[in-house]
Amino acid sequence: MKDAMEQNEKLPVRDQEKFYSVYRGRQSALYHFAYMRSAKVKAARLLLERNDRALKDLSVLDHGFGTGTFLRACHTSCRIAGLEVDPVNVEAVRRMLSGCGHDVSNIGVLDVSQWDSHPVLGVDRKYDVILLSHVLEHLDDPVGLLRRMSMNLAKGGVICGLLPINERRPDENHKWVCDRALVASWAEESGMSVKDQSELDHYVYYAQPLFHAKGHMGRVMAQGISLVLGLKQALFPPSIWFGMGRCLRIIGARPGQIVFLLETKRDK
Ligand SMILES: C[S@@+](CC[C@H](N)C(=O)[O-])C[C@H]1O[C@@H](n2cnc3c(N)ncnc32)[C@H](O)[C@@H]1O
Repeated sequence: MKDAMEQNEKLPVRDQEKFYSVYRGRQSALYHFAYMRSAKVKAARLLLERNDRALKDLSVLDHGFGTGTFLRACHTSCRIAGLEVDPVNVEAVRRMLSGCGHDVSNIGVLDVSQWDSHPVLGVDRKYDVILLSHVLEHLDDPVGLLRRMSMNLAKGGVICGLLPINERRPDENHKWVCDRALVASWAEESGMSVKDQSELDHYVYYAQPLFHAKGHMGRVMAQGISLVLGLKQALFPPSIWFGMGRCLRIIGARPGQIVFLLETKRDK
């Protein structure tokens, strides 16, 4: 706990410009299998399903949906909403989700300077699940976002958050070094409580440096490994896949993500 807090005091302010173009042109089915995407969806599903929230018949908001892989995994009985910053990417995700049979009228562009006044966060919009996947670690004020999102939870609704942990190399886009204690303090400060959480995904521990690789060859290798792992994970349900990953502790691997559910204190 002390480690992450001490490191957070030293982190410089980061800019988030890369999210304005990084997700373009990545909508083929193979891209959605890539482990860097599929592992996040699998981790979220693990926690949601063990808390009786399988992705069916739910109202779901994915704030900062990236390439839309999580929304793609929602059954078409879900009422989906989502925001992302790059209009070109948003248009491609709308086409992809529409092709999967979803109503995309609430998939829109996120203006970070006034994100809290978007219609998907209107007073009449309530969600059973709000996903914040690898978003909070980029923000100056994660507590402000959590507090605001909690106002749009339906009765019994949950915020499902995912964060990177045990990063072997600091990520220049992250404003926070994350751990369990940080999640607890953000929950408390935003007036919510942690309903469930899990530290999981040991597979990425040794692959992490590769995923940050620069240069053509590095990227090709990272994509190859991400695809192989992604195709493998598809063969197993979440609890078995992440359970098998825990065996890698014997060679020193640590979990790469924390996934957690937050509920409002009124629902406790
Ligand atoms: C690493 S991406 C995560 C994308 C996707 N959720 C995933 O897990 O792959 C971080 C996302 O955070 C969102 N984001 C960045 N800065 C933000 C801000 N100031 N306010 C709200 N969202 C922001 C952007 O939409 C960006 O795509």
